[in-house]
This record gives sequence, structure tokens and C-alpha cells, in this order.
Amino acid sequence: MNPLERYAPLVDDTDAFFEACERPLPSVVRVNTIKADPERARRALDDEGVVYEPVDWHDGLLRLPDASPGTNWPYFHGWLHGQEEVSAVPALALDPQPGEKVWDSCAAPGSKTTQLSAMMDDRGVVVGNDNNLGRLSSLRHNAERLGVTNLVVTKQDGRNFSLKPLGFDEFDRAIVDAPCSCEGTIRKNPDTLDQWTLEHVHSVAAVQKGILSRAVQATKPGGTVVYSTCTFAPEENEAVVDHVLDTEECKVVDFDCPLDSVSGVTEWEDDSYDSSVTDTHRIYPHLNDTGGFYCAKLEVTA
Ligand SMILES: C[S@@+](CC[C@H](N)C(=O)[O-])C[C@H]1O[C@@H](n2cnc3c(N)ncnc32)[C@H](O)[C@@H]1O
Repeated sequence: MNPLERYAPLVDDTDAFFEACERPLPSVVRVNTIKADPERARRALDDEGVVYEPVDWHDGLLRLPDASPGTNWPYFHGWLHGQEEVSAVPALALDPQPGEKVWDSCAAPGSKTTQLSAMMDDRGVVVGNDNNLGRLSSLRHNAERLGVTNLVVTKQDGRNFSLKPLGFDEFDRAIVDAPCSCEGTIRKNPDTLDQWTLEHVHSVAAVQKGILSRAVQATKPGGTVVYSTCTFAPEENEAVVDHVLDTEECKVVDFDCPLDSVSGVTEWEDDSYDSSVTDTHRIYPHLNDTGGFYCAKLEVTA
């Protein structure tokens, strides 16, 4: 059985959902505003003869219908970074400001980390953490190519992250772009569901709860924590948010999702979740012709 069929009861138009999941994902690049601006990047692509289409909700994102992101000189010079359209949403929800201290708990290979740095005008500090050494080298490589200088890279398990080596004791904001069962990446990686099991969903949900709890603990009162996954399973989305609402000092806050989305679910199989998860966002592939995603914004309350 296709594991995605378990989500049919959650989706408004199941035919459109399954059709979208079978279509390849359009390539998208983000303009790196540390080195270029959208107008300059578009001119460079024109000069290269690379066809692009604007993304209507963000002038720094360009769809490349005929090209791979990494094959043109504006990319090599760090003016562009390949980043899925939907993957740009969590950093916008986090809204980091220049000069702040921001934790990216699961950072590699760095699409969101480098987007955060650019949104902060490369000022303040972004701590990009991951527990996978190989993926951390991709993060470093991407940060160097994009000219990011406000990044500190750490290799720790996000569940018991220590700030001791950093010389400060809390973050202004944190983002948990969690390891997940990746169901929403099916358009990019058609094999992604071959190894799907419910046991894996439950085991990765336990890791997600640990990292999100630590992010809330490590963020100052009044600070913001954003949680995101590229999967549909409520066990890895609303259930994780519901868990930290129970165990940590935080509340869900709504945000203006720039893509069409539907509300988080309050009931799934035998479980029910806090009613505030309706202010979290599920982004299905057929709604905007993107990958699948989930994004929640939390405010730390004490
Ligand atoms: C969805 S990916 C992150 C993608 C990244 N945010 C980006 O936008 O490029 C999840 C990451 O979590 C990392 N990870 C898994 N378990 C972890 C843990 N316990 N602590 C920290 N990172 C972990 C994985 O190595 C992986 O790089």
C-alpha cells in the first residue's frame, strides 16, 4: 500500500494530491542577498541564457524550468542557492533580525541557515548545528560559497544541545527543521517511501520531540521557535507540537503563511491535540505545485 493513502482523509482533493505527488518538482533558486539582489541575479541569468520564471509571492525566488540550479556561473559565484520554494517558508515565519542570536538546530546542508544569515544582513550570530559530520561539511561549503560570515557551526545532538562553548546562555530565536520521514519530498525523490514504516515514524517523532523541547528551553522568554518538517504524518507534526505545549513553557502563534495552506489537524486516529495547532500550517503539494511541508510557530512564554 502507498503510505500516502493514510492521509487521504486529511486532504480536500485526493485526486489532485496524488497527481501532484507523482509530478517532478520544479527547480527553484533563492537569490543570496549577501552577494546580489534579485534584479542583478536576473540580469546574470539573462546573460547566461538561463530561462527563469518569477515566484509570485517572493521576488528572491526563481523557478528554472529547463535547468538545474548548480550549473550556471551566478550559482558558482554564490549569487544563487538551490532551495525548494516551500523550504523558504520557515525562515520567513521565524523572521530573524540583524544582530540577534539564532539557533538552527538541524542545519545541514544549510538552505535555511544561509537564508537566515541573509535575512539578518549577515549580522548577529547564527549557530548552525547538526549531528551529521558529512552533512556539516556541505553546510560549511554552502556558507563559504554564499559569503556568510555570521555563522558558528557546531556538531551536537540537538536534544541535549549545550550553549556553554558559545559564551551566551539563550537564543533570541530558534528553528527546528527536523529530521523526518520525508513523505513530502516524494516529488524530488520518488524512492523516498520505499523504506517507509510506521515504526520509523514513531522513532523519528521521539527525536523531534527532544529537539523541539531543547529549542524552547534554549530560547529567551518572548522569543520565537519555528518547527518544520517535510512530511505529512500528524505523529511528526501536530503531535510533536502538542507534546511541547504540554511539557515546555510555550504557546502556538499564528503566522501569515505566504503559500496556500490548510490548518493543522486536532484529531488523528485515536489521538487528539491542543486546539491551538489549528494555527499551524500544512502545505500539500497540489496547493501550490511544491513539495509537502508542515510549519508551526511558537512563542516562548517563560
Ligand atoms: C531536514 S534536514 C535539515 C535540512 C536543513 N535545515 C536545510 O534547510 O538545509 C534534518 C537534519 O537533522 C539532522 N539531525 C538528525 N538528528 C539530529 C539530532 N539528534 N540533532 C541534530 N541534528 C540532527 C540530520 O543530520 C539532517 O541534516
